[in-house]
Amino acid sequence: MVQSVIEALLRSKIGLDVNSIGSGAIASAIHHRMADCGISEMSNYLGYLQDSPQEWEALIENVIVPETWFFRELESFALLKSYVLSEWLPKKPQGVLRVLSVPCATGEEPYSIAIALLEAGLTSTQFQIDAVDISKQCLSKAQTAIYDQHSFRGYNFASQEYYFQLINSKYYLKSSVKERVRFINGNLADADFSLSQQKYDIIFCRNLLIYFDSITKEKTIKILENLLAIRGLLFVASAEAPLLMKTQLAAIRQSSAIAYQKLSNHQNFITDTSINFPQIKTQKSFESAINNKVKISPTQQLNIANPNSNLLDLAKTAANQGRLEDAVQLCNNYLNQNQINAEAYVLLGEVQQAMGKNEPAGESFRKAIYLQPNHEAALTHLALLKEQQGDKTSADLLWQRIYRLQHEKSLNQEQG
Ligand SMILES: C[S@@+](CC[C@H](N)C(=O)[O-])C[C@H]1O[C@@H](n2cnc3c(N)ncnc32)[C@H](O)[C@@H]1O
Repeated sequence: MVQSVIEALLRSKIGLDVNSIGSGAIASAIHHRMADCGISEMSNYLGYLQDSPQEWEALIENVIVPETWFFRELESFALLKSYVLSEWLPKKPQGVLRVLSVPCATGEEPYSIAIALLEAGLTSTQFQIDAVDISKQCLSKAQTAIYDQHSFRGYNFASQEYYFQLINSKYYLKSSVKERVRFINGNLADADFSLSQQKYDIIFCRNLLIYFDSITKEKTIKILENLLAIRGLLFVASAEAPLLMKTQLAAIRQSSAIAYQKLSNHQNFITDTSINFPQIKTQKSFESAINNKVKISPTQQLNIANPNSNLLDLAKTAANQGRLEDAVQLCNNYLNQNQINAEAYVLLGEVQQAMGKNEPAGESFRKAIYLQPNHEAALTHLALLKEQQGDKTSADLLWQRIYRLQHEKSLNQEQG
């Protein structure tokens, strides 16, 4: 009973969805704090907590998950480099690239961004990174910029020796990289959360939304959209990508990496050729393509007759171009020949959802999960769909499954 009051307070203060880490983890954090404070009754601890901002900070330090490592989801950094070199730099050769990493945890993410940008050929005066986290303990570790092997999870990149000095098994980051990152203590779930008025060209917000309840998820996505400059890129973790389906941002894929771009209001989704990445449209852009009745040039027409064409690739292209009926037909043609392809069902579901056909979309995601029970994108799509349909119980069960998968994945990465 008292624990559920503390859980509700945690939800309102930091947006934490208790299911994301489990009530057991919250109980253990509370008992840990009670022992430190010499308090034996949880109700007394609650009273103490409500009177003490310091104790709140201490409890938060105990419930957060500061799991992070250098170059986590490596492909994102390749996409970052391509974007900076092919789009940002040609447009702003004299500019300073503004980057936000939130949450930055113990610094591995913002420092990886700095290294990636230096590796891309930017000079240290051509970019500035702001890095935000709620945890003061994490930030103070980040500021020391001293790491052990565990922070690399076995990924020893070619230029590691160039950026770090190895002394007694500790990696000391060079000050030229350290100086590019400014650390800021902040709570994204706080109604007063604000940063400078200037927008960011790049925002990394990875592995935070999964811990938030649905209201905080929505609010945070709005904050991020607002902080992003026009044509800027937002990176989220791959499991969080479906959360951005409902936004105005356009998805950009490169290999397995995905980022979301803020396009100007007047931009034509279909004819823009300045972006060198294949784009997947968000629901809004699919709709806008349909509503604007965009004409597809003959060269863009798909060649259904060509038996050698990969139907699934054609389906993706059709979806990217906003030709949703074609995309559905191609997915179905493909599935007639390859009934056990989970990816095809996920694509079909995404397109059906973009067309507002939620029931068939749900069915497609379910088929993908049946074929591949741990398919994170399919699970996340279905969880969001259930949330949208007001079926909170099914959504929560799916979110729990996703969190467990995430957790197992990070344990596996830690061990090997
Ligand atoms: C799993 S880490 C993610 C770090 C990094 N972005 C990554 O993907 O590796 C989650 C971080 O979120 C921070 N955090 C949790 N709630 C937050 C909030 N409301 N505002 C800001 N940071 C928060 C935690 O302190 C923790 O360091």
